[in-house]
Amino acid sequence: MIFDARPKMKREDLFDREKELEDLHNNLDVPMIIITGIRRIGKSSILNVFLNEINYPTIVLDLRALRNNYGLKEFYDILSQSISSKIEKLIDVIKSISAIRIAGNEIEIKWKGKGALNLTSFFDHINRKRIIIAFDEAQKLRGPRSNEILNAIAHAYDYDKNIGFIFTGSEIGLLYDFLKIKDTTSPLYGRYYYNLTVERFSKDIAKDFLRSGFKEYGMVVDENTLEECVSFFDGIPGWLTFYGNEVVRGHKRFNVIKEMAVNLAKNELRNLIKNRGSKRYATVLQGIALGKNSWSKIKEYVEEREKTTISKSILYNILNNLEELSIIKDYEFMDPVYREAAKRLNY
Ligand SMILES: Nc1ncnc2c1ncn2[C@@H]1O[C@H](COP(=O)(O)OP(=O)(O)OP(=O)(O)O)[C@@H](O)[C@H]1O
Ligand SMILES: [Mg+2]
Repeated sequence: MIFDARPKMKREDLFDREKELEDLHNNLDVPMIIITGIRRIGKSSILNVFLNEINYPTIVLDLRALRNNYGLKEFYDILSQSISSKIEKLIDVIKSISAIRIAGNEIEIKWKGKGALNLTSFFDHINRKRIIIAFDEAQKLRGPRSNEILNAIAHAYDYDKNIGFIFTGSEIGLLYDFLKIKDTTSPLYGRYYYNLTVERFSKDIAKDFLRSGFKEYGMVVDENTLEECVSFFDGIPGWLTFYGNEVVRGHKRFNVIKEMAVNLAKNELRNLIKNRGSKRYATVLQGIALGKNSWSKIKEYVEEREKTTISKSILYNILNNLEELSIIKDYEFMDPVYREAAKRLNY
C-alpha cells in the first residue's frame, strides 16, 4: 500500500522509483554505494526494496538511534539485532565466528575482553560468500569509534571482495564527513563509489502519487486538494505518505494534517537545536524561514533580534552545520514543512 507509513519493502508498494532501483541493480558489483537524500525522501524504502530483490544475504544496520558518543557495545547491539532478524539466511556465514553465539533465533556478540568480536575479522569471515552490508544513516557512526569502523571498512573494501557496502544518509554533509573519501589521511581515501542521490518528485508525479494511493482505498480526491497538498508538501514522498495515511484513516481536513506535519517538523528542529546547545540556531532558522536569503540579511536579522553583534565565525559555523545536516542549502530550506516549522519556533 502506497500510504503505509513504514519504509517500503516491496517494489509494488514503491511509487515511481524504477530508475533508482535500476541504477542500484546496475551498480551492484561496485564495492561501495552511497545513497543520499534529505529526510523522508525514500532512501530506506529504495534500499529495502533493492536488497529484497537480490538473491544473496544482506545485513542492514539501522543506525538512526545511535547516540553521539556511542560505544562498541551499542554498535554491536545493532549488528546483532540485524543479524538475528535474518538468522536463517546468515547462519551459515556466522556460525564459525567464535565471538558470536547463536541462541535460538537470536545471536549474541561478545563485545569486550578476550575473544571479543573484531570488526575486521568479522568482515574477513563473512567474506566467504557474496554479501551486502548496508549502513542506514551512516553519519551516525561519527564519533570516538569512527576511525576503528572506517579502518575495518577500508580493509574489507581492499581485501574482502565478496562484501558490498551501502551507506545511506540524510545528513549528507555529515555522511561524507564520516566517510572522508576525499581526505588524504583517511583509510577510505580515494576509493571508488557509486552515488545515488534521491530527489523529490516533480509536482505532477507527486499528484500521481496521491491519486494512486487514494485509488487503493477506492477514494478520489478533488484536484484543488491535490494542488493544495502538493504546493505545501512539495514532492517529498514521506510527507505525501503522511498526508495520505491521515486522510484514509479519517482525519479529513487538509489544515489539520498540515498542522500535525508542522508540529512533527518543529519537534525535529527543537531536537536539533537542543543537540547543538545554542539557541542561535533557532534565530538563524527563523531568519531563513522569513526569507533572509543572504549572509548579510541573516547577520542583520540575528543582530537585530539578539541586540548584540554576532561573530562571523560563529554565524559561518551555524550556517555550515545547517547545510551539513541538509536542513538548508543556499540560504533556503530543503523541506518546506521545516520552513513553516522554523517560523513557529519560540525561543
Ligand atoms: N516511492 C515511494 N513510494 C511510496 N512510499 C514512499 C516512497 N518513498 C517514500 N515513501 C514513504 O515515505 C516515508 C519515508 O520514506 P523512507 O523512510 O524510506 O525515507 P528516508 O529517506 O529513509 O527517510 P529518513 O531520512 O527519515 O530515514 C515512508 O512512510 C515511506 O513508506
Ligand atoms: Mg531512512
